[in-house]
Amino acid sequence: MLIFKNLLKNPINNPLLLTSRVNTYITRYTLTYIRTNFTQAKMSTVEGTAATYTTPGSDFANVLKPTNFKIDFDAVKPSQLVLKALASPINPADLSQIVGGYNEPKRFTDLGTTPNDPVSVGGNEGVFKVVHVGSDAGSEFKVGDHVIPLLPSFGTWRSYATAEPKDLIKVNGISVDQASTISINPSTAYQILNQYVTDWDTKGGNDWIVQNSGNSQVSKFVIQLAKALYNVNVISVIRDGKPQEVTDELIKLGAKHVINESEFTKEDFDITKYTNGGNVRLALNGSSDPTVPSLVKSLSKNGTLVSFGVVGGTKIEYDARLQLFKNLSTRSFWLTANTYANPDLKKDTVEKLVEIYKTGKISDVPYNKVSYKAGQDLAKLVVDAIAESKKSGKQVIFYE
Ligand SMILES: NC(=O)c1ccc[n+]([C@@H]2O[C@H](COP(=O)([O-])OP(=O)(O)OC[C@H]3O[C@@H](n4cnc5c(N)ncnc54)[C@H](OP(=O)(O)O)[C@@H]3O)[C@@H](O)[C@H]2O)c1
Repeated sequence: MLIFKNLLKNPINNPLLLTSRVNTYITRYTLTYIRTNFTQAKMSTVEGTAATYTTPGSDFANVLKPTNFKIDFDAVKPSQLVLKALASPINPADLSQIVGGYNEPKRFTDLGTTPNDPVSVGGNEGVFKVVHVGSDAGSEFKVGDHVIPLLPSFGTWRSYATAEPKDLIKVNGISVDQASTISINPSTAYQILNQYVTDWDTKGGNDWIVQNSGNSQVSKFVIQLAKALYNVNVISVIRDGKPQEVTDELIKLGAKHVINESEFTKEDFDITKYTNGGNVRLALNGSSDPTVPSLVKSLSKNGTLVSFGVVGGTKIEYDARLQLFKNLSTRSFWLTANTYANPDLKKDTVEKLVEIYKTGKISDVPYNKVSYKAGQDLAKLVVDAIAESKKSGKQVIFYE
């Protein structure tokens, strides 16, 4: 009896418990081995489809076509991985790319393991699951890992893809909802907050940002990250006629004030009434619409106007006297250019955002989910989702 009690006190010396622990270990290892290798063996060929185009154009229904392909795992280059799409969004920049004159798309002849006619695949952002690792593809990625493309123009509107490890960033540990959109809007917000001001008043909380298109996805991440990382207050300017829920959502995310465009662009608008004399250091122009002169007017001395979106289509015009007497700067931000110039910066940005998501410091920004089922016409699904995005905002395709 005494021996038995002692064995329980010191399980490490207990051959019975040790054996059972080793057994559990072996079983778990065997199951993982079978899951990994058997899954790879079972799925020796997959049939994929992509939403593709050959000539640019804005008539998406005629420009986008489905291209089907097969990936035979035995014929995949040993240096490559096979990826199964989980989710890919439709962003404004994807549409500009298809229209032409913005971020040249790639021409693919290798969607599958047998050559296809040269096509460009729509989409720049998305999350994939690794389903096969080539024998010479290194040990960084394993079957089951969630990954996103490192560079733009990956062509993410496709149900399967092949890629080299160097082209991917691992995003394990966050939800598919978060990972599918981490690459562009949160990364844009994160880099803007770090690129132009490096000495935020984190202790005093007296720094401010004012932004137009203040209900966009980018703006929602600016609001959250500015508060969470640097204790910076954000004012969002939104276009008139929005329901109260839009303001409520922005305030819930952490915006200090939400102001309608008509109020913001009044001749006598005075931002100091909202900021209590705080330091408006950044004015973010995500739309290049008629609010730009008021954004500049709202900047404090030494402030910076950062333009990163052109959807409003107007010229960027403002009072030169303001720039002169307040020593204002005008800068532009383009994530694509930053990423091509410095891919490591992009990797670092995404890895930081993964950690921020994991700590729960920022919340998901909701969007509309569109579900793709194998065998459907993916190009048509995308075209319908583009039309729907005009009515109900950001659409993200989730693949079966
Ligand atoms: N430079 C970069 O690296 C970079 C990176 C990411 C995004 N962006 C740009 O940032 C902007 C926001 O992107 P997002 O994905 O967050 O978009 P989003 O969620 O779809 O939001 C679009 C925003 O633009 C506003 N808008 C649409 N048409 C407009 C017009 N004609 N005039 C004025 N405002 C208009 C919308 O206002 P309503 O709700 O009132 O329609 C909304 O606030 C886009 O222009 C995008 O191209 C640039």
